[in-house]
This record gives sequence, structure tokens and C-alpha cells, in this order.
Amino acid sequence: MTKKFYVTTPIYYLNSAPHIGHAYTTLAADILARYKKSKGEEVYFLTGTDEHGANIEKAALNAGITPQKWVDDMAEKFIDLWKVLNIEYDDLIRTTQPRHEAVVQEIFEILLKKGDIYKGKYSGKYCLSCEAYLDESELVDGKCPIHKKEPQLIEEETYFFRLSAYQEPLLKFYEQNKDFLSPHFRAAEIVNFVKNGLKDLSVTRTKVKWGIPVKSNPAHTIYVWFDALINYTSAIGYGKTLGIKEFADYKCNFEDYWPADTHLIGKEIFRFHAVIWPAVLMALGLPLPKKVFAHGWWTVEGEKMSKSLGNFIDPRDITSKYGVDPLRYFIFREVPFGGDGDFSMEAFKKRFNADLANDLGNLLSRTLNMAAKNLGSIPEHCAAGGGLLDRCAAADGEYDAHMENLEFDKALDAAWLIIGSMNKYIDETKPWSLAKTEPEKTKAILLELVLALRYVCKWITPFMPETSKEMARRLKSGPIEKYPPLFPRIEA
Ligand code: MSP
Repeated sequence: MTKKFYVTTPIYYLNSAPHIGHAYTTLAADILARYKKSKGEEVYFLTGTDEHGANIEKAALNAGITPQKWVDDMAEKFIDLWKVLNIEYDDLIRTTQPRHEAVVQEIFEILLKKGDIYKGKYSGKYCLSCEAYLDESELVDGKCPIHKKEPQLIEEETYFFRLSAYQEPLLKFYEQNKDFLSPHFRAAEIVNFVKNGLKDLSVTRTKVKWGIPVKSNPAHTIYVWFDALINYTSAIGYGKTLGIKEFADYKCNFEDYWPADTHLIGKEIFRFHAVIWPAVLMALGLPLPKKVFAHGWWTVEGEKMSKSLGNFIDPRDITSKYGVDPLRYFIFREVPFGGDGDFSMEAFKKRFNADLANDLGNLLSRTLNMAAKNLGSIPEHCAAGGGLLDRCAAADGEYDAHMENLEFDKALDAAWLIIGSMNKYIDETKPWSLAKTEPEKTKAILLELVLALRYVCKWITPFMPETSKEMARRLKSGPIEKYPPLFPRIEA
């Protein structure tokens, strides 16, 4: 079997309901997966939920239910949202599943035996929201820079992962694999962090009960991040590779998937994925992922999303009114993937009306209306040529290059540049009046436009799969019918 293109999202914490930020990464993975599939590649798209740790324990306690019940209910919310957003994932791993827990326990014991994990004592400042110890140097005014809360001083017996041993191998790896740290402008942050020296990492807790117990010492549970990262391997059959009996018939052969091609994540968890995760993989003697891509963060109407502001955007509030595809389009057109962005309803409506209702929707309607009048039907074989189609072919190459680089906004720019020139072409050639004097030329122009629209239809497929299906139906050969607008304008 040929190796699949393996793309992952972070596995999401289940302490609160999903919002637009979670949807962002998952949609990006979906877009990449759909694009790769359209190119004939075999794709495996994994997402999941991160279900252990003190935060979940606390949330369940506050709700008066067991952590298991809490995560079962909350996982449903994520799964529902993925359905609404038309996410075509191949697997969704939950870290409370036996297929995951067993692999984490086994890996822990392997590294313990190898000496990459050892027992010691730890005292340090712990940010509960990060689920991580923070170094004094990372604190801002004594507080966690991300969560703006004071970390707690904790002392405990713990097992350590020998992260310090991987400083040099990691630096060498970054040097030799320039695409691993992506986008490139984020690489320096990681390289400098590693160059400054790595400390061994505490990977067990005695105070957290809601976690995977260490097999050889169940008084300890495994640190939620050590547990979580392993999902990328447990989901694809590493348990079978390790010879764990229950997984002899597991559905995946690890070797057909690993190494991952792209781990998509948000910038705040870059270090976990670009430092700790590759070090764990090196300790296991496994090849490293080809790319870890850290995208930026969304604010909402200029503000950080937060509990205190209560400004989390549930994507369903938008999709129920305006449809799923416009949201999928908007968030990838509006902001370069990789950078930060701001979500505002005004910007959304503006793009909806300008890009979708006007530029694309009207183009399709007017082309098909004129084609209905002048051609009647779209022929099976259209031998159209002309400058417009040459430009489409060139744009197609640019589009592919951008998609391969995860430059989704640029890929869409390339498509909308063509859409713009098609609208201009219609305005200039005026087929409606040309038809009276030069019917043959008019037909050729309309055919050219139909063929160019098929390119557009292809380009938007990963972003707006339902819209593109509908466009393809309208543009197929055969009699042309009357259709309602693709995107009815949003009125003020
Ligand atoms: N459970 C960890 C990840 C473990 S992966 C082995 C975690 N979970 S999370 O629920 O907090 O989700 C974090 C991810 O959600 C971010 O990395 C990012 O992909 C996405 N986002 C959450 N809020 C976001 C924004 N405001 N904007 C963009 N994406 C954000 O961290």
C-alpha cells in the first residue's frame, strides 16, 4: 500500500463547548484533505478530543457529574459541530478510548525502561489552564502570559521525560528539515527556545486522578500533554506495531500512515508539537512528522474570546442564518492562514455580498441566463479557446502551488481574480447585444465563460463543497434550466 497523506488537528479539550477557534483548525484540515483527495492522493484525516486532566475533572465536579459523563456529553457537541460544518474526517480519537490509553501506558513503560523517563521530585509554578509548568522567565507580572492568571506553586514526586537530551538532535533536525517548523516566520521562536536550553519535563501527576495511570506505579497519572500528543500514533495503529494483543486486528497499519504529513495546530501549542512531540518520537526511534503548521488566532470584533466577555462565537449562529459554505469561505479568504485575524459580522456580510452574491453568484446567473437564451444547452464537448481559458490554466497552476503551501487566502485570491476578469469580459463584450449582430461569436464567448466557470467550480470545491456541487450540476452538459441565485444577498 502506498503511504497516505496523513493530516491531523489538535485534539480539543472538552472543558467547554466548541467555538469558531476550534472550527478554524478543523476546517483547515478538511480543506487540505479535500484538496489532496481531489489531486488523487489517498488521505487520512484525524481529529479528536483531549479528555483527561485537572480542568475536565474540575468542570465535571462543578456540574455534579462524573468526568466520564462530562466528556461523553461534551464530545457529542464537537461531533455535532463537525457534522454541521461538513467535515469529512476519517477518524475521531477520544483519549478516554482503550485504543489510546493502552498505547500511552505502553509507551510510558518503554521509555521508562530505556531511561528516557525517570522518577524525581518537582516543584514549580503550574498554570492550570495551560496544564503546564511555567518557567519564571515566561511569566508576565507573575501571571501566565496566555491566561493572565497566577500559576500555583506545586511540589510533587513525579516522573520526568529526559527532554534535555534532545536539544542538539532537535536543532539538527530543524536545520535539516526546513519545512518542519511552519510557517517559516514562526521557526525562530522555536529554535531560540531550544537553543536556550531544555529542561526535563514532568510527565506524571499524583494530584490529578482523572488521567491515565502509570502501569508500573498507579499512584501517578500521566500528564495530559504527554497523553494527548500520542493520539497521533495511537489512532493509526501504533498499538499493533508495539505488539499489544488487543490491537492485533486494528483497522490501520501504522506504517501506511506514519510519519504524519501535516500537524495543523494553533500558535499557542507550537512548542508542544515542535519540541516535546518530536523529542518523544526520537526517544521511540520513530521518524518525525514532515510539517507542524501553527496558524494564528482569531479575535472577535477586536476582542480576545473569553469566558468573562462571553463572546465565544458558536459557528452555528452563523451557519444557521447564512449557510455553511459562506463561513468556510470567509474565514479562509479574510485572513492569511498562519497569521492572526479578527472576526466581525460586518466583514462577514461584506464579503458575503461582494464576493459571493455579486462576484460569483451573479456571474453564474448571468452566464447561464445568457447561455440559455443563446445556446439552449451546454454541449457535451466544447471546443472553446481564447485568452480567458489560457488565464484559467495559468491560475490553476498558481492555485495548486498555494494550496500545497497552505496559502488558502492566496489560492482563493487567484480564483477571484479570474472571477473578476470574467465579469469584466462580460461587461466589455456585452453578449446580450452582440447576439443580435454576431450570434456565432456570442456563442463562443458564452462557451468560454461556461468552461472558465468549471475551473472556478473546481477551485472552490475544498472550501465550499456544497456550493461547488450545485455549480457543477448547473454547469454540466445538457439543457440549461432556470435556477435561483446561489447566494441571495444579505440585506442590511
Ligand atoms: N488539547 C490541547 C491540544 C492537544 S493536541 C495533542 C488544546 N486544546 S484546545 O481545545 O485548547 O484547542 C486548542 C486549539 O483550538 C488551538 O491550537 C487552535 O487550533 C484552536 N483555537 C482555539 N482558540 C482559537 C482562536 N481563538 N483562534 C484560532 N484558533 C484557536 O490546546
